[in-house]
Amino acid sequence: MSHQLVIVLDFGGQYNQLIARRVRECGVYCEVKPYTTPLEELKAQQPIGFIFTGGPNSVYEEKAPHVDPAIFEMGVPVLGICYGCQLMAHTLGGRVTAAQDDSAREYGKTETYYDTSCKLFQGLPERGISWMSHGDYMEKVPEGFALVAHSDNCPNVAIADEKRGFYGVQYHPEVNHSENGVKMIRNFLYEVCGAVGDWTMDDYKRTAITQIREKVGSGKVLLALSGGVDSSVCAALLAEAVGEQLTCVFVDHGLMRKNEGDEVEAAFSKWAMNFVRVDAEARFLEKLAGVDEPERKRKIIGEEFIRVFEEEAKKIGTVDFLAQGTIYPDVIESGAGDAAVIKSHHNVGGLPDYVDFKEIIEPLRLLFKDEVRQLGRELGLPEYLVMRQPFPGPGLAIRVIGDLTKEKLDTLRDADAIYREEIANAGLDTSINQYFAVLTNTRSVGVMGDGRTYDYTLALRAVTTSDFMTADWARIPYEVLDKISVRIVNEVPGINRICYDITSKPPATIEWE
Ligand code: XMP
Repeated sequence: MSHQLVIVLDFGGQYNQLIARRVRECGVYCEVKPYTTPLEELKAQQPIGFIFTGGPNSVYEEKAPHVDPAIFEMGVPVLGICYGCQLMAHTLGGRVTAAQDDSAREYGKTETYYDTSCKLFQGLPERGISWMSHGDYMEKVPEGFALVAHSDNCPNVAIADEKRGFYGVQYHPEVNHSENGVKMIRNFLYEVCGAVGDWTMDDYKRTAITQIREKVGSGKVLLALSGGVDSSVCAALLAEAVGEQLTCVFVDHGLMRKNEGDEVEAAFSKWAMNFVRVDAEARFLEKLAGVDEPERKRKIIGEEFIRVFEEEAKKIGTVDFLAQGTIYPDVIESGAGDAAVIKSHHNVGGLPDYVDFKEIIEPLRLLFKDEVRQLGRELGLPEYLVMRQPFPGPGLAIRVIGDLTKEKLDTLRDADAIYREEIANAGLDTSINQYFAVLTNTRSVGVMGDGRTYDYTLALRAVTTSDFMTADWARIPYEVLDKISVRIVNEVPGINRICYDITSKPPATIEWE
């Protein structure tokens, strides 16, 4: 793919991926590289600009991450953000120290004044809120640099050497709290680096299709389709590229939401490819009968999934390529330390050991989630698939607490469908990141008409989150909750009480099991 490249050099800050996503939103392709990447490797990629990210260190510490000073001799513009700014100042002869008193330390929203004659702030308002988070202070800026933004506390919120194209900001333009932050990044890309905006999903689609065709030739491709966003878009892209050479195996384990299996099948009916939907509900339910321990459920489902997939793959015979819907955040994060295993997430990542194939292809591995959705739209996938919220591999099996029966699953499906419908009717479906119903194993007494009931309690869960690692419970208006509760209790037999889960993560997790 021949498009311009910006390299986001990663110093370990928490917003690194967000910076990269902002650059891409501006229509410029970028890649995140660790700061340890050898200079020769960076040069070979011929970037039009560098962005140095924030990071947790202080530049004057002995073990703080550094860059090869020769990076500043490449004639390529640099934007340093927070640690990146201090590192640039430090490397080019400035002096960075720990802020001596609290007034020089800045955290949070800060009124900032910009010099709009500087290319970075060209066309932007002269003042606005910026989001600060730094305890270090640039005592002396390097030679050739001018001060181009300040706050009431800090004279050098931004520095610039316009001749060499070096810019540094102490604040985080990539976060939403920074007003006009993205416009500033856009200015850096277009006014300083000379970006032309050649990164579009339409272009990506066309190029990816050509590349897939070249790579696959007349070979056969196999994909495990889960119905989630990534595997669906991967399937659509491959279907567009190689049509009947593609076989998608969709294992319908009977643990999907209401009508979901049919929706997935319908969405792919327009492509001439081999779509295999395996109705495996009975065998999954048989394996899961009497199992109430969540991790056991996950394990059984993961193993059975592989078994079913393997049986189908055998029917096809040897395939040349196994396709996977890996996306860019998985690629960047791989190699990050081992986080504690809280739930053994079931993913199809384990498949390669079991299936006979020559090579893996991952046509989405350069894309962020928003881009995957955009590509899905370009490929004509329906909005409900493209905007689908995350759904766990083990499906509703971990949303029916305790042991599973088809009856309980059907009850949950009906209640969950009403919940989702009302959230969408209230216009909350785009602001809440994940919402679903949980059928608890608690039964309680109720009264309906003149009769006593002894039925299940349903829990409603809804969270807002940016990364699913932490989450806040969503403040759904009482009227909406009321409507959902009344409808579910009236329309779904077997449920007589509704609770709303008001715990955040941590200490709770998003799912109940
Ligand atoms: P938790 O419950 O750990 O969930 O806070 C975080 C995110 O992961 C999803 N999740 C799973 N996804 N297999 C998956 O593919 C699983 O076993 C699984 N368990 C949880 C959950 O829906 C949420 O988005």
